[in-house]
Amino acid sequence: MRTIVMTGATSGIGAAALKHFMALPDTNIFIGARAVGDHLGQGKQQLPLDLSSLESVRAFSTSIQKQLGDRKIDILVLNAGIRAADNKQRSAEGFELTFATNHLAHYLLARLLLSNMADGSKIVITTSDAHNPAVVHFGPKTLDIGALARPTEESPKGMAFYGATKLCNLLTAISLQDKLATQSDIGVIAFNPGLTGNTSLMGKQSVPLKLMVPIIRPLFQMIGIFKPAFFMGTAKRSGKALAELALGIAALPKGRIYASLVRGRLTFPNPSQLAQDKDAQDRLWKESAAMVGLDI
Ligand SMILES: NC(=O)c1ccc[n+]([C@@H]2O[C@H](COP(=O)([O-])OP(=O)(O)OC[C@H]3O[C@@H](n4cnc5c(N)ncnc54)[C@H](OP(=O)(O)O)[C@@H]3O)[C@@H](O)[C@H]2O)c1
Repeated sequence: MRTIVMTGATSGIGAAALKHFMALPDTNIFIGARAVGDHLGQGKQQLPLDLSSLESVRAFSTSIQKQLGDRKIDILVLNAGIRAADNKQRSAEGFELTFATNHLAHYLLARLLLSNMADGSKIVITTSDAHNPAVVHFGPKTLDIGALARPTEESPKGMAFYGATKLCNLLTAISLQDKLATQSDIGVIAFNPGLTGNTSLMGKQSVPLKLMVPIIRPLFQMIGIFKPAFFMGTAKRSGKALAELALGIAALPKGRIYASLVRGRLTFPNPSQLAQDKDAQDRLWKESAAMVGLDI
């Protein structure tokens, strides 16, 4: 029996990946979601999880551990993400909302569930090529963790702020892999789905916007010939790639951690220079531990 635990499965890329997981035989799936109550079928459960609250993350982790008993997790997918309209909104604990949801909550969840991961299991963290200034001009060139947790007027805004939180996902994935390398054969994958049109990342899609996406997609496809990061993919394709990576159907070359969907094809480039910086990895690990109340 395979066990999958997943965040961000109720919409967009995660919902498309979930369809692949739901079709698997002998598979238990636990979904952490804000809205629970959907009946997903035997062995599939939605449990309450609001990533904007570290208390909710701890409660979710405890209820997963209760449900698991002696069983272990084979696949942990940390996919949920937001891009708040501004950086003035705060999480339950007072951290900036996008940073808290995309990074801090997933950092805490990964660490709380680490002892429940099976040998040979996988942790997939959804990042973005927005983490990389060599790919998108607004990608972060420095890491100021304090300015992400509690922004000031000088802190990055909009897509730059979002990109910095996705850098945090990548830095966490690399740190996790480094820390696990000596103790276990748990694999970590940082997945970039690439620009994906039909999701709710920029807010729930209104009917006019839903109608617009198929019209503007060819335009982005054309720009994508010259600037691959602007190629607009679909949630169906991105979700399939996520599921295939998690299930090992698409394997990363040895020594690689970053899987990036570029114009619909999985590639395995180096993450940004800053993501590979050991000092940035260590600083984020340490400061995040302090923020969520864990030892390093
Ligand atoms: N779309 C793109 O172009 C793109 C590109 C690169 C990377 N990504 C990344 O891909 C991932 C999936 O995004 P998407 O585009 O599929 O967006 P989406 O359709 O908005 O899906 C986001 C998911 O995250 C969940 N979520 C958000 N806030 C939450 C919270 N406080 N507690 C629990 N769950 C929460 C949402 O749940 P609800 O149903 O409750 O809202 C939903 O399931 C994100 O990590 C995003 O950063 C997206």
